[in-house]
Amino acid sequence: MNLTKITDLSATDINEIFSIADAIKAGRQKSKMDKKVLALLFEKPSTRTRVSFEAAMARLGGSSIYIDKNTSQLSRGETIGDTAMVLSQYVDFIAARMYKQQDLENLASASTVPVINALTDMEHPCQAISDIYTMREKSGTLKGKKLAFVGDIAANTANSLLAGCTAMGIDITLVGPKECRPNAKYLSIARKNGTVEVIADMHHGIEKADFIYTDTFVSMGQESEAEKRRAEFKNFQLNTRALLYAKKTAFIMHCLPAHRGEEITSEVLDGKMSIVTLQARNKMIVEGAILIYLSSK
Ligand code: CP
Ligand code: NVA
Repeated sequence: MNLTKITDLSATDINEIFSIADAIKAGRQKSKMDKKVLALLFEKPSTRTRVSFEAAMARLGGSSIYIDKNTSQLSRGETIGDTAMVLSQYVDFIAARMYKQQDLENLASASTVPVINALTDMEHPCQAISDIYTMREKSGTLKGKKLAFVGDIAANTANSLLAGCTAMGIDITLVGPKECRPNAKYLSIARKNGTVEVIADMHHGIEKADFIYTDTFVSMGQESEAEKRRAEFKNFQLNTRALLYAKKTAFIMHCLPAHRGEEITSEVLDGKMSIVTLQARNKMIVEGAILIYLSSK
């Protein structure tokens, strides 16, 4: 079984991953990664996803090998298919961070071991699963909770959260400028699952939210459009003034890395409502659970 996109998992699968994550957190998880090896094939930079996967593997008794695409034979034209065939001879899982979703799908098609999406331009499923786990940890239940995603509502993180949150019973409000439209495919999946609103007004967008989430305005690969994007999203910064409209009990979330002073101010990111440290910690726990879950399939 692969995890190339969030819809590869049903709500039942995600709940099973959460049970494994609970066991890991409580130190009572028996199924370990003894001698299993994870390859991390990365085309884009990473701090959290790379280190949390490596740390999860090490803590569960397995090991991992980081492969920077630029120092592999992929950079000299070896095909993704040939790379997948070869890596499948050596390792038990491949987690890949790539630009194009199709490249990741091609890797998964040619691999005989599970392939995990560690972020593409289209999706960030491990982040979404881990963040939903964090929401569950903070609020006990998920059904009927409300998440407002503010800023780049067409980003990979927004896509995976749209499909993942609604599958788990969380209502989503996408809050972004009129020029930025959510991905039609993910919007349609989410609308079939549950309740989604798309709002261009910050006040109405966040006022009912239990969780207020943001991500960078300029994702990896969009650097040439940085100036235009920062101007487009400038009214969607999470700052103290914007949060005057939020519930006092709302939690602030960010997948990180944060661009302080752009999509979020330091005051909010480091403030009392922020749960970004727990989010970062839970990535390691939930990714370990994903590895155990996939190895059982
Ligand atoms: N949140 C996240 O995926 O961070 P990295 O880019 O550091 O892996
Ligand atoms: N949307 C961001 C997420 C980083 C974890 C990006 O793709 O750069």
